[in-house]
Amino acid sequence: MTSTQRWPFTNPVLTASGCGGGGRELATYGDLSALGGFVTRSVTLQPRLGGREPRIVESPSGLVNAIGLQNTGVTGFLEVELPALLDLGATVVASIAGHSLGEYAELARSLGRADGVMALEVNLSVPDSAGSGLFDAREPFQAASVLGSCRRDLRDGVLLLAKLRSDVARVAETARAVVDAGADAVVIGNALPAALPDGRPGGLSGPAIRPQTLRCVAEVARALPDASVIGCGGIMDVEDAVAYLDAGARAVQVGSALFHDPTTAFRIAHHLDPASGPAVGEDDA
Ligand SMILES: Cc1cc2nc3c(=O)[nH]c(=O)nc-3n(C[C@H](O)[C@H](O)[C@H](O)COP(=O)(O)O)c2cc1C
Repeated sequence: MTSTQRWPFTNPVLTASGCGGGGRELATYGDLSALGGFVTRSVTLQPRLGGREPRIVESPSGLVNAIGLQNTGVTGFLEVELPALLDLGATVVASIAGHSLGEYAELARSLGRADGVMALEVNLSVPDSAGSGLFDAREPFQAASVLGSCRRDLRDGVLLLAKLRSDVARVAETARAVVDAGADAVVIGNALPAALPDGRPGGLSGPAIRPQTLRCVAEVARALPDASVIGCGGIMDVEDAVAYLDAGARAVQVGSALFHDPTTAFRIAHHLDPASGPAVGEDDA
């Protein structure tokens, strides 16, 4: 981390990008300020309609989604979604995805300067970058180029996270490249490339991917002992979160579990940090 960066997360449990909606839905199940952070769905420069229905299906121990990064674009995010999240007391991590290095830089500039954005998460890990038209960051040098363009104009004090795919063969190399290019922390990982039953490309998430993502987190933590690593993949309960922390993660993100039980992240946060507020249901006891 650079000297001006401060770790903004008061506990180690965050939501995963795209899995907490716009925040309002999740806030009916718990206090967003009790989470370490709320990661927004990935924001693109222009609005995206996303893929056609069905876009989420269950598979054994997981979900396959083909949401296609549906979002209102940066203007809609700044005008509607961000103020709502701040009203709810969330520590906001804005996730960004671009079609080019220039778009990533522009997103980092505008979102990084927005009041209340504590961190940017650079999505370098969409399961189907070719099909989505997004910048292809599969090679470590490509991922590092994106990070470099985001870092250049970023406001001091905004933490820069690089979200990497959990590619066992390349993840440590990619993590080193993005840290050298200015990432303050690496998030591992995203949904793995998969297919919906009709053959359309999608991403597999949930418990099915946990052992694979956990291995990647352990490898990066071993290879880069000074780096801050955030683990994301199949966390369903406290035990899963602790496994990631024991493997060297500084924090975790909870994604698919929120579709099964939206209280999951609040319960894990309370267990790991009782000062984070009442566990869900305890406040009316
Ligand atoms: C419905 C859905 C939407 C998602 N949208 C995004 C997104 O916009 N940006 C992103 O970086 N990851 C997105 N993800 C991936 C999650 O943030 C997370 O990396 C992945 O699902 C693995 O964690 P999990 O097994 O806990 O779900 C999405 C996942 C799901 C299931």
